[in-house]
Amino acid sequence: MERELALEFARVTELAALASGRWMGRGDKEAADDAAVRAMRAVFDTVSIDGTVVIGEGEMDEAPMLYIGEKVGLGTSSQVDVAVDPLEGTNIVSKGLTGAISVMAVAGRGNLLHAPDMYMDKIAAGPAAKGVLNLDAPIEDNLKAVAKALKKDIGDLTVVILDRARHSKRIEACRKAGVRINLITDGDVAPAVATAFPDSGIDVMLGIGGAPEGVLAAAALRCMGGEMQGRLVPMEDGEQERAEKMGIKPVDKLLTMDDLVKGDDVIFVATGITDGSLLQGVRYHADKATTHTLVMRGTTGTIRFVKAEHRLDKKPFWEKVHD
Ligand code: FBP
Repeated sequence: MERELALEFARVTELAALASGRWMGRGDKEAADDAAVRAMRAVFDTVSIDGTVVIGEGEMDEAPMLYIGEKVGLGTSSQVDVAVDPLEGTNIVSKGLTGAISVMAVAGRGNLLHAPDMYMDKIAAGPAAKGVLNLDAPIEDNLKAVAKALKKDIGDLTVVILDRARHSKRIEACRKAGVRINLITDGDVAPAVATAFPDSGIDVMLGIGGAPEGVLAAAALRCMGGEMQGRLVPMEDGEQERAEKMGIKPVDKLLTMDDLVKGDDVIFVATGITDGSLLQGVRYHADKATTHTLVMRGTTGTIRFVKAEHRLDKKPFWEKVHD
């Protein structure tokens, strides 16, 4: 992929974040999501890729925009697969909590796992802990191994887990191991990515969350040399068959980095919507709004944090993010 695309993609998540951020705390997660989706879709029309959505808002009959299989981009230049989550953390924005992002990953055709919209058991850590994770091993063993790799006392290791009843055993295991735990309400992509930034205060993300979110986080970790392992966890009728149809056989196979994201030719972009450990949320001023975006390319491993100012009075730019 041409390196110029990285900044083009930053515009995509910036606009989605600007649109969605307006819905912070308004108790309407559908509207917040809809605003992000519309803005993201609109900006894609200006980007010079021949993209196919492989992870998006759902199947064609479920989602009007950014559905799986939808073509995005101007149809010129590289043929790429696109994974998007215009608003990762709908509840977060709806309640005005921390950690919502707009996020996307792009890779060559066939290089992103076509993850069905179901749960995935995941464990993620940054580059220093590469090669030490094993989803099949007890949690305590993983935590000890990461602490050793990071040269930290296990009591200083910080683990992020979604605060869900299904995680009670995992949380118990973490407490027994003596690590610090950050139980989050929603949004496991940003903390998974944050494991690769030593200053984020997050060392490990583990537990069962969305499979599409797992692929997005893996794309970032691929760019940074970090690691994630996953395993699909079908819970509803038909999910097993759906996963098989999407080519994941056996459905319960251990998914390594190479299964989640193949090769280094991947670009990951995320813009903060509400403040989080990785990114600042959108700020709105009288005449402008500011965004904070993380842009990474796997080919070079370059990581950029982009602070952008957006003039609120400049159309047609701004009208793209209004309904
Ligand atoms: P939405 O943005 O679709 O609301 O999902 C956010 C999220 O918290 C993900 O980050 C996470 O992987 C998944 O939902 C967890 O699912 P559940 O809320 O069903 O436990």
